[in-house]
Amino acid sequence: MKTILVTGGAGFIGSHTCLALLERGYDIVIADSFINSNPICIDRILKISDLNKSQNRVNVVQSDLRNKENLNKIFKDAKQQGNPIEGVIHFAGLKSVNESVKNPILYWDNNLISSINLIKIMDENDCRTLVFSSSATVYGFSGKYLINENEKLEPINPYGNTKYVIEKLMHDIYDSSQSDWSIANLRYFNPIGAHVSGLIGENPIGLPNNVFPIILQVAARIIPELKIYGKDWPTKDGTGVRDYIHVMDLADGHVLTMEHLFENSGKILDINLGTGIGTSVLELVNTFKKINKIEVPYSFSERRSGDLSRVVADNSFSRSILNWSPIRSIEDMCRDGWNWKVLNPNGFI
Ligand code: UFG
Repeated sequence: MKTILVTGGAGFIGSHTCLALLERGYDIVIADSFINSNPICIDRILKISDLNKSQNRVNVVQSDLRNKENLNKIFKDAKQQGNPIEGVIHFAGLKSVNESVKNPILYWDNNLISSINLIKIMDENDCRTLVFSSSATVYGFSGKYLINENEKLEPINPYGNTKYVIEKLMHDIYDSSQSDWSIANLRYFNPIGAHVSGLIGENPIGLPNNVFPIILQVAARIIPELKIYGKDWPTKDGTGVRDYIHVMDLADGHVLTMEHLFENSGKILDINLGTGIGTSVLELVNTFKKINKIEVPYSFSERRSGDLSRVVADNSFSRSILNWSPIRSIEDMCRDGWNWKVLNPNGFI
């Protein structure tokens, strides 16, 4: 079976995708700097997959992709062991919108340099199949009811800008290569939830900014209440509407994308991964309360600057090209996310 390099494989989406790859029979190499993730996550991946380290289906390298020599060694070592890396899923990167506004150079340096290095080293090692972890944030203020892949790209913060330019870089590399490369830019909407086992999940370091990890902390009585940013948006109940997607559906989308590229080489694709269903903050909170039978105190506050009323995917392209469809409901997301929090109140420790 093929070996896939997963950069940032100990992160939230990365770890769930590692599980999906293992389940599908792929061997994986995880390259992670562990600056925003925890090595315990790898033990949990092995546990869920019923594997042990000696089986060598999961190799782990602590690595900052800005170090080219280190990255090159990962490819060389895998080749020497008879399992050359045939595809890469590139998650590694910084992802906090707030932090990126305060410290843009950190984001440009980290996200861009690592992606440039990765492409160079892949090319040198004759591995040209790449799935890139992008984001719906590349669309900025689209204003469309459902956002499709042809929508204008206009990110509004440094984090989004790095995703945008890396997508552009991917297109430039592809255009120059006479079809040597097979690339997909996956634009995620709002991934939440956790693996059904409750052994892995999102483990934000410091104070979370996103609504779902905040709901988990409020339900766990770590934070007294959720502040809902705005109650006068032009939406069904006045609160912001997003396209929440279960992280395992997203993970399956990565595996199907990789397989699509293996079977249809020499193409570049920009693909939305969302459910196409809009859920308001109030609907999310109420579903969470109902399914988990727990209180989530909230109050309303001012709109957060840079927020949009509604961000929901047109996912018809991903459904047709990947033969993928998200199958897990908002109830599943709320239940699985809370199960992870209850089993790991302090994350991976
Ligand atoms: N919200 C609150 N209170 C909070 C946090 C959020 O009411 O404390 C609301 C927001 O106003 C918004 C909704 O919850 O209406 C979702 O907000 P998130 O911060 O969870 O997510 P965003 O949609 O703002 O952004 C997320 C990621 C980005 C990514 C984007 C893709 O943070 O990195 O989805 O659409 F790019």
